[in-house]
Amino acid sequence: MKDYNRLLDDILNTVNSVKHPGSVASYIPELAKIDPDKFGISLQFVNGETYNAGDYNERFSIQSISKVFTLSMAIQSIGDKVWDRVDVEPSGDPFNSLVQLEHEEGIPRNPFINSGAIVICDILLSELDNPKEEYLKFIHELNGSDKIKYNELIYKSEKSKGYRNIAMANFIKSFKNLDNDPEDVLDFYFYTCSIDMSCVELAWCFQLFAQHGKQAADGTLFLDPNQIKRINAIMLTCGFYDESGEFAFRVGLPGKSGVGGGIVAVHPGEYSIAVWSPKLNEKGNSAKGMHALELFTTHIEKSIF
Ligand code: DON
Repeated sequence: MKDYNRLLDDILNTVNSVKHPGSVASYIPELAKIDPDKFGISLQFVNGETYNAGDYNERFSIQSISKVFTLSMAIQSIGDKVWDRVDVEPSGDPFNSLVQLEHEEGIPRNPFINSGAIVICDILLSELDNPKEEYLKFIHELNGSDKIKYNELIYKSEKSKGYRNIAMANFIKSFKNLDNDPEDVLDFYFYTCSIDMSCVELAWCFQLFAQHGKQAADGTLFLDPNQIKRINAIMLTCGFYDESGEFAFRVGLPGKSGVGGGIVAVHPGEYSIAVWSPKLNEKGNSAKGMHALELFTTHIEKSIF
């Protein structure tokens, strides 16, 4: 049996010894205040064994990792009808790009780029009575506790400067792929991105995707295994925007990143792993986080491939 505590410590020391280029996200002003040298990692096997290192208990802004939660809720709510509104192809473009929308009539390439997540938020706004409360409840149920909250400063900061997302939502609306008012959809979208979670909490919640739809806290079936198959497939092909190929090549796991510097990945049937380091590479993914996960799957010589 491997000494995973030691392995995670070694990975922490290795990534910290390399000077990674990149910087903390600043287009959301509040995110620019985060200490760039933070690093946390949490590894959780499906049998409950857990190993952590660094700042694994410190909460950070999950940002786009929220797109996996909102997609899961939309699938729970309307099933396959989701795919009438959003496609499942990698975009090969940055997460905040608008270009493909024009030729593709407002149908976003996938639910993990901003345009796709905005359409998913529109679906939830139409389907749920209290979208914000129900979104938090979904995360609380997955986590088995109600301690996770949204961060008002981050939410307000993004809302006041979200020019590109504002343009995007209005553009999608012009193609009639938003049913609600773009302002209301964005308000909910910014809220979903502004949740703070730690590596331990993220890896625990993502057990759902490692355990074929079962929530880790009490084994309740949240989504059926075929829905999980699809979400994991989209994480693998689209979870890192125009760096999804590189992530699959280097790490070999389905996963999702956020501009807060978090990455969560899963090996279905085996484990979930969350890492946090706020400095982003030029594609908007955590530079040290990718390096750490590459070291992990390379060392254990196991990935979904
Ligand atoms: O909409 C945005 O731009 C952010 N709230 C989320 C973007 C994000 O996390 C992209 N991730 N790598």
